[in-house]
Amino acid sequence: MSRTPIIAGNWKMFKTASEAVSFVNEVKGKVEVEGVQSVVCAPFTALPALAEAVKGTTLKVGAQNLHFEDNGAFTGEISGIMLNDLGVDFVIIGHSERRAYFAETDEIVSKKVHAAFRHHLIPIVCVGEKLEEREAGQTKEVCRVQTEAAFKGLAASEAAQVVVAYEPIWAIGTGKSSTAEDANEVIGYIRGVIRDLFDENTASQVRIQYGGSVKPNNIREYMQQPEIDGALVGGASLEPASYVALVEGAK
Ligand code: 13P
Repeated sequence: MSRTPIIAGNWKMFKTASEAVSFVNEVKGKVEVEGVQSVVCAPFTALPALAEAVKGTTLKVGAQNLHFEDNGAFTGEISGIMLNDLGVDFVIIGHSERRAYFAETDEIVSKKVHAAFRHHLIPIVCVGEKLEEREAGQTKEVCRVQTEAAFKGLAASEAAQVVVAYEPIWAIGTGKSSTAEDANEVIGYIRGVIRDLFDENTASQVRIQYGGSVKPNNIREYMQQPEIDGALVGGASLEPASYVALVEGAK
């Protein structure tokens, strides 16, 4: 089964709407790389302008969060209905920063994955271990528990569309990336967990990215690994030239 790799930029809390549009104007025509899906996940406030700016390109737009309810008295929240209405295609769910700073639990992640599918959004679900968990030899166990929660209650046809981002927390924004071999091993393990939950065919369709200090100068090492289907990139996705180099590197 050949899987189309995805290079997704996670802009985190960076870029105004006008900065996002300038970015698209710079990368337009350079990220339409055959066989690679390019996505940028922007702050909510940039999404309407971004969705407009990418029209006519193959670049897709993602959000970085959504609420698990469709509407209601949840002051300050944004739902899947609203994202879908804007023309957003992807949504990051369960990023370690949301788990750490906004108390997002595995149960909330599961509800958000279901909300994404209700509104035709592809979830990019983040899993990954903390440094102390890695040092205690718990990497696979942590990833298994998070993966099982994220896929809970999905139909196989939905599960096959999920994008998983394996992001070891100690590698995020630190410049200390996982070796490509270690990332490949954990990602292969995560694919095995999905196979146990569903079946071989479903697991073979799920795209699993690596994330954590991915840069233009190391993307190729990750892409050479058989289990790794692209990257979720923070810092190195912010500059147009760097983002283009990442997409090129995923060919
Ligand atoms: P960096 O690429 O800046 O390490 O961030 C990774 C990340 O958190 C992407 O979601």
